[in-house]
Amino acid sequence: MPSLIPQSSSARRLVYELIYAWPGTWTGTTFNVGMAPVDPFVLADPQLARDASQIQLYAELFSLAQYDAFEWRESSVLEVAAGCGGGLLYLSKRYKPREAIGVDLSVVAAWRGRRLGVDLRQAEAARLPFEERRFDCLVCVDALNYLGDEAFIREAKRVLRPSGRLLLAETSTGFEEAKARFGRLARMSGMMVAAVRDVSDGVRRSIRERSPRVEKALRWVPPFVRPQVREMLSAEGSERYRRWQHGSYCFSMAVLRLV
Ligand SMILES: C[S@@+](CC[C@H](N)C(=O)[O-])C[C@H]1O[C@@H](n2cnc3c(N)ncnc32)[C@H](O)[C@@H]1O
Repeated sequence: MPSLIPQSSSARRLVYELIYAWPGTWTGTTFNVGMAPVDPFVLADPQLARDASQIQLYAELFSLAQYDAFEWRESSVLEVAAGCGGGLLYLSKRYKPREAIGVDLSVVAAWRGRRLGVDLRQAEAARLPFEERRFDCLVCVDALNYLGDEAFIREAKRVLRPSGRLLLAETSTGFEEAKARFGRLARMSGMMVAAVRDVSDGVRRSIRERSPRVEKALRWVPPFVRPQVREMLSAEGSERYRRWQHGSYCFSMAVLRLV
């Protein structure tokens, strides 16, 4: 799948540092494709409502996890590639887990997350700074395509407890492809796919509805990189916007559990 974000980790980090540090940046606490319609819980909280559709992507994934209220409260959760921490903020407000920690490649994102009150640290997904079997649940939203399946799974398996769950959400070029990938990731980690969901319709709607906001944010982008940024943000008129709206891209979620 074509991506405007570099494959090399250091170049990608530079791009994300710029995105998160840019004045007037359109990112608040999250940076993902978003999903609509939005849960009333998110809309009722001004801190979450600012990034409503992007928080909704997390709301959907956490509901797929099939934890009850007690299990959430007892859980220690790690998010990998957590951006500025909006997903963990939502998780903490809604489900109050025992512990919620995030890591992201970007030092600016980690700093912004900490200003929100989220425990967010700068770290590389392939070298998680945690001991073995530390977490009950590991989350990764809209970032898996950067991480390299093998390195990601090796670290996820290392830091998860045997009863742990892995919550994943990512873009693909079709639901069959996504299911096959989740199945491969499960086999690599000795887990099984406990639940899988295609949420592409909601993502397409979010991309359409956020168009005016994206156009406003683009005014802050220097004209010489604006076409590339338009593409990265799937702004209306971009190739990525067209592919989303024509169904060439799919967004799906899965819950993996140890067998
Ligand atoms: C599309 S954003 C998603 C952020 C967040 N999950 C969200 O939904 O708001 C992708 C994130 O992956 C992070 N990232 C990319 N490569 C990474 C790596 N190797 N290790 C940790 N984080 C990484 C980027 O810094 C960026 O914050």
